[in-house]
Amino acid sequence: MIQAINVSGVSVKFQLPKQVIRSVKEYLIYRIKGGRYDYEEFWALRNIDIESATGKVVGVVGRNGAGKSTLLKVLAGVIKPIEGKVEINGRIAPLIELGAGFDPELTGRENTYLNGTILGCTNKEITQKLDQIIDFSELGEFIDAPLRTYSSGMIARLGFAIATDVDPDILIVDEILGVGDDAFQAKCKERIENFRAQGVTILFVSHDLNQVEEMCDYAYWLDHGQVQANGVPEHVVSEYKRFVAQRAAN
Ligand SMILES: Nc1ncnc2c1ncn2[C@@H]1O[C@H](COP(=O)(O)OP(=O)(O)O)[C@@H](O)[C@H]1O
Ligand SMILES: [Mg+2]
Repeated sequence: MIQAINVSGVSVKFQLPKQVIRSVKEYLIYRIKGGRYDYEEFWALRNIDIESATGKVVGVVGRNGAGKSTLLKVLAGVIKPIEGKVEINGRIAPLIELGAGFDPELTGRENTYLNGTILGCTNKEITQKLDQIIDFSELGEFIDAPLRTYSSGMIARLGFAIATDVDPDILIVDEILGVGDDAFQAKCKERIENFRAQGVTILFVSHDLNQVEEMCDYAYWLDHGQVQANGVPEHVVSEYKRFVAQRAAN
């Protein structure tokens, strides 16, 4: 079977400055006084294995800072891991951060062209889909206002509408399903269900554990940049809940 996503032995390391230096002047004074600029190494991901067969819906759960967004950025090609292998088979539409691939000074309409192009669409294709995208995003006349005037929910809606309208093979979603009202959430869920029916591979990060149990075929729990549990969503979610309950009790 072809794997849509195959990540093996992936590690990501960030270098964090040990001392906070706010300006070039401060830096120079620091150097003149003989200070060295030291870095601390921080492993955001350590030896991660993640895979998904084509057409599966995979959920990723974990605390803040666990490394979930870093993992999605690695999949999207935004961050290069220092070790390990990343294989992606198909057109990937990443929804990784609010407004990633958006320009705040451009209107929603202009951003749709910008973002659609990044996702590999021609202008003509985007024009054909534009009404549908505006409709789904529920932006109405705001589509012609600059993006900087949008709320985070509006940006997320537009981002979701575009990413899911470009016919991806693999959809990657970072917590975006948590924004917007119930009606919008229901629409997102329905669209994801349609994708699943069409055989699109979906990997998403969510804090909504019920949603993960409901929608996913498989799940991963990340903590400290490592996989703590993986398997059927019920199992992974209960392990994660047990961990959270234990920590709360201590
Ligand atoms: N560009 C970066 N530079 C330094 N540290 C980072 C960077 N991006 C993320 N981190 C750190 O890596 C850890 C994992 O972050 P992230 O993947 O965003 O976690 P999550 O999405 O699970 O909340 C956090 O401790 C975060 O502070
Ligand atoms: Mg995150």
